[in-house]
Amino acid sequence: MRTKATEMLGMELPIFAFSHCRDVVAEVSKAGGFGVLGGTGFSPELLEQELRWIDEHTGGKPYGVDLLMPATYEKNVIRKDIKLEDILPKEQVDFANKLLEQANIPELPDDVKGEVRQRILGMVQMEPEVIAELLEVTYRHPQVKLIVSALGAPAKHHIERAHSLGIKVGALAGSLKHALKSREAGVDMIVAQGYEAGGHTGQITSMVLWPELAEALDIPVLAAGGVGRGNQMAAALAMGAAGVWCGSIWLGTRESEATPEEKEIMFRASASDTVQSKHMSGKPVRMIRNSITDAWADPDAPKTLGAPRQMMLWREPNIRIERAKAKELMTPIVGQVVGMMTKEKTVKRVIEEMLEEFIEAVDRLNTVVPSEIK
Ligand SMILES: Cc1cc2nc3c(=O)[nH]c(=O)nc-3n(C[C@H](O)[C@H](O)[C@H](O)COP(=O)(O)O)c2cc1C
Repeated sequence: MRTKATEMLGMELPIFAFSHCRDVVAEVSKAGGFGVLGGTGFSPELLEQELRWIDEHTGGKPYGVDLLMPATYEKNVIRKDIKLEDILPKEQVDFANKLLEQANIPELPDDVKGEVRQRILGMVQMEPEVIAELLEVTYRHPQVKLIVSALGAPAKHHIERAHSLGIKVGALAGSLKHALKSREAGVDMIVAQGYEAGGHTGQITSMVLWPELAEALDIPVLAAGGVGRGNQMAAALAMGAAGVWCGSIWLGTRESEATPEEKEIMFRASASDTVQSKHMSGKPVRMIRNSITDAWADPDAPKTLGAPRQMMLWREPNIRIERAKAKELMTPIVGQVVGMMTKEKTVKRVIEEMLEEFIEAVDRLNTVVPSEIK
């Protein structure tokens, strides 16, 4: 298949896979698509380890790395020798603890608690120096052909450095305004992510956003948000997209890092079971709705903190919920396509089905207009 995106990056299929899981990234690139590793939350050492593994398991195929480079964040939250208790307000901490107490979720054992808190302080990497360090790790891996900014336009100097190494730069955008800002900064492609997507998401639906951005921009636009099947991929390309960028659909695959409990929750859920909630990161994230998301959305609940403090606040409760395997409190991040995810498949099978359905959809469209008037 040939689009502006496949030509730019040298791959065979215009299917991009965002995943925090290296196995998914490698499988998609091996199958002719383009895997993109979500590197947020990784230390430079861990990122190096994961990229080395991907290099060894993709047979020389290209892949990408996505990092959180937010336009706005609370600066200097993390300083040397600081403790979590010093930066998290009591009101929100007490609220979170009470939610778990009411559900009889045990506290972490003391030795685990100390280690977890230390890790939380190290994992929130939005400071420019940390991002720069992660990017330098990325640049040491020649199969990386694309870096993507998860939130907002990347800084110009990052774009120039990537370009000097022959690496393309992309950015997610949920509106024309944000896309134009990234375009102005010099990115090579835009991931147009609609409201229905899993993860941080805006308010404009894919159906409206994709064609608007594809028409307005002179660089390839990838369609994200709500794509899990080939007929949706056909619709995206028909609307001018140069490829599809999927995140949620890989969570239900055999290769995915999602736990058995999370998979069970997702396979049971329907499209109407997701909600945007700020409780996980301080920004709206689409995830499975339950009593936790409802509690934080209650008008009497304390206001969620900004990023990254809300992320730091909710990390420990989330680990407690995972350790207790308390399914009723788990809020896996996933988009509305969750309703189509009903059983575990391999990454390869998901791609095969997408391609079969894509061809069927194109054939169907070709029967709509009689050939004599084409
Ligand atoms: C579990 C999960 C985590 C995500 N984390 C990130 C992230 O760290 N950076 C990013 O750019 N996008 C992230 N996203 C959004 C994806 O890149 C992608 O745009 C989105 O999943 C597309 O919509 P879909 O979920 O309907 O496939 C995440 C999505 C999911 C489902």
